[in-house]
Amino acid sequence: MTRFYFDHNATTPLSARALAEMTSCLRDDFGNPSSIHQDGQAAKQRLETARRQVAAAVGADPDEVIFTSGATEANNMALFGLRPRHVITSTIEHPAVGQVCAELERRGAQVTYVPVSGAGVVDPDDVRRALRPETDLISVMAVNNELGTIQPIEELAQLGVPVHSDSVQALGKISMTPIALRSFSAHKIYGPKGVGALVMRGGVTLESTYFGGRHERGRRPGTENLSGAVGFGAAATELGADHAPMMALRDRLEQGIVDRVPQSFVNAGTGPRVGNTTNIRFDGVEGEAMLIALDLKGFAVSSGAACSSGKVEPSHVLMALGLSKDQARSSIRFSVGRTNDAAQVDALVEAVATVAARLRKLSPVYVGV
Ligand SMILES: Cc1ncc(COP(=O)(O)O)c(C=O)c1O
Repeated sequence: MTRFYFDHNATTPLSARALAEMTSCLRDDFGNPSSIHQDGQAAKQRLETARRQVAAAVGADPDEVIFTSGATEANNMALFGLRPRHVITSTIEHPAVGQVCAELERRGAQVTYVPVSGAGVVDPDDVRRALRPETDLISVMAVNNELGTIQPIEELAQLGVPVHSDSVQALGKISMTPIALRSFSAHKIYGPKGVGALVMRGGVTLESTYFGGRHERGRRPGTENLSGAVGFGAAATELGADHAPMMALRDRLEQGIVDRVPQSFVNAGTGPRVGNTTNIRFDGVEGEAMLIALDLKGFAVSSGAACSSGKVEPSHVLMALGLSKDQARSSIRFSVGRTNDAAQVDALVEAVATVAARLRKLSPVYVGV
């Protein structure tokens, strides 16, 4: 069965260019970038080319880019490395920030979680009101992974406190205001998994999280994931151009579903959003059941729930919007990307309409309109 992938916020397929660059790197440039001989220097050159490519894509200088194993590591390095006494963050962060904040609290730091509006956006005035003399960091994501909502990072950067932003879902979709710290991940932009970057600017200094070498200018020890960085760099050169067509596909999908399926609602649909994501609630439908039914029909989507310790928990992001547990559990995230076209979108709309009608017929509680 042909499969259609509508889960590009979870991960993306490797681009042909990234694959070609990685293959040639693995085959021809096996040297250690720290070695002085020519093999090492050839590897070093590839690493520095990749650094320049990533820097250009995120609007930074190459020496501000630290390669990491992904955004989770970059977030950990930023939040632990600043040793903050008080952090202000949001209620809709990815666990790669949320769980770091919880650990900071266990270690004695103070953390304030600012809410979001029903449109899924942080209000900079709430952040301003939460500021204290000992606030050392504001950490708010640039774009939410479940809703696609764009957060007001530019305004937060005016508040006089260093800002960190998990910018994984923003890269290639919106422009980047220069701030103290941003985290990125290659596999969300058609690069490989297991590589990302922390971008540090404006003289911010971090205490080391790890020890063992002087790699990455002494900021992240360990032999670099060279082929990963090369793939990240290659993917970074291809960003941006497809965002407008993506938005047209997302709008076609969203409108198609809302028109075809009664009692379906776009979560946070009124907020500023990137062009590839829509999160839709289907009253009376179990999101997990819809996900599985769509999967069997060949469509990959994501539900507004996460499996934790064997239980399906409603998404904290959807709960933060003010949705009930049942509403959160009846939501599905669709994220379009380069692999999609209008025919796939139309087929998905058809499948969603069929599945929603079937599941509602089986539902003991759904009464319809
Ligand atoms: C917003 C956000 N932050 C962090 C991550 C984690 O990134 P990585 O897989 O590179 O650690 C993801 C991916 O799921 C994400 O969407």
